[in-house]
Amino acid sequence: MQMTGDTPKAAGGDAMQGKIERHVMRYGPVFEPRLIDRAEGSYVYDSAGAPILDFTSGQMSALLGHSHPDIVRTVREQIGRLDHLFSGMLSQPVVDLCARLGSLVPGLEKVLLLSTGGESNEAAIRLAKTVTGRHEIVAFSKSWHGMTGAAAAATYSSARRGHGPVSVGNFAIPAPHAYRPRFTHADGSLDWQTELDDAFAQVDSQSTGSLAAFIAEPILSSGGIIELPEGYIAALKRKCEERGMLLILDEAQTGVGRTGDLFAFQRDGVTPDILTLSKTLGAGLPLSAVLTSAEIEEQAHAKGFMFLTTHVSDPLPAAVGLTVLDVLERDGLTARARVAGARLRQGLEGLMQRFDCVGDVRGRGLLLGIEIVTDRASKTPDLDRGDRIAAEAMKLGLSMNIVKIPAMGAVFRIAPPLTSSDEEIDLGLSIMAEALAASA
Ligand SMILES: Cc1ncc(COP(=O)(O)O)c(C=O)c1O
Repeated sequence: MQMTGDTPKAAGGDAMQGKIERHVMRYGPVFEPRLIDRAEGSYVYDSAGAPILDFTSGQMSALLGHSHPDIVRTVREQIGRLDHLFSGMLSQPVVDLCARLGSLVPGLEKVLLLSTGGESNEAAIRLAKTVTGRHEIVAFSKSWHGMTGAAAAATYSSARRGHGPVSVGNFAIPAPHAYRPRFTHADGSLDWQTELDDAFAQVDSQSTGSLAAFIAEPILSSGGIIELPEGYIAALKRKCEERGMLLILDEAQTGVGRTGDLFAFQRDGVTPDILTLSKTLGAGLPLSAVLTSAEIEEQAHAKGFMFLTTHVSDPLPAAVGLTVLDVLERDGLTARARVAGARLRQGLEGLMQRFDCVGDVRGRGLLLGIEIVTDRASKTPDLDRGDRIAAEAMKLGLSMNIVKIPAMGAVFRIAPPLTSSDEEIDLGLSIMAEALAASA
């Protein structure tokens, strides 16, 4: 998410522009001037019917593309039968989705169904605090976990300024970054173990002895597609265990097949104490989940854990979640993320060979990033050129999201739906090439 306070430009004529300026509150991003009227598959269509290839899956969520026929059918059927309930009542879709999610990974059997990513992280952090009886939370200094209370207090990539203090006991450590390593081996490669040891020494010196949890994204997305190297999550888990902390993994963007594994942590052979899923789980509809072990759930319950929201255990989004998992499995989309991701990565690496301003290509599966730099030696983020590329791409019918927080670089987050065809991947790459050339 990029943050600016700019005024939205005309959208759909003067009358519409007037309505926007008078009535639509600005909440961060610069609004796309065109109004979007409908969406289908990998495309959104503006009000004049022009297609825009969606290479960010909406807000990194539309895993199955837009208006997937199976999701449309589920929503139509379920809304006419049972949509929302008193929070103490359970329904078949909720029990089935809890059972389905809770059977995927040994050690993550218990499931709580909520609405948004921020909410799932609020619940996860509260769960960790309740179980450990402690309050300190550690996160990465380029993290994004949500806009509310505890999630915002563990979010360091943006939006911390201007609205007063967060709760006490929040610490940040740098995420290991192979493109800009802070600690290196003799050959210049990233020495993440020394960096992690150093970071935890600093955490220990700041802690009041009340460390409850570390919350991490396996690939920091809003932070600029920074992938934790293989072995890092296991080492992080050991640091947590040594201190009696819990490890929370936030797989809002990486979960449900996107990286080529069902969950990104599975590549590393480590199971977190708590896993949160959101964005991709509802594939565009508001559904999130918190998964944990039976032991942690038991302890939390015994200590009076409560997390009651209006839409906890709502049947309509739960039915959608079941359909998302059905389609993912039926159509082999986790494997497809690997294959399409390899095609996309190869194309992006081709762009890096052609255009000097592409300093780095990184990420995994269908969650990739390219970083735009002024030159490869200094690796200085080129925010202006990034803007020009995004604008040219949009003109040519490609929607790409650029993270352009100066301290983090000018990084395009590229995450097409898992249902994207080879032709759509290739079309996106050729528009990107045109946009890169036009932005020079
Ligand atoms: C990794 C991660 N966690 C949590 C969130 C917050 O999710 P939501 O906006 O649904 O509250 C985001 C949103 O971008 C995210 O990227």
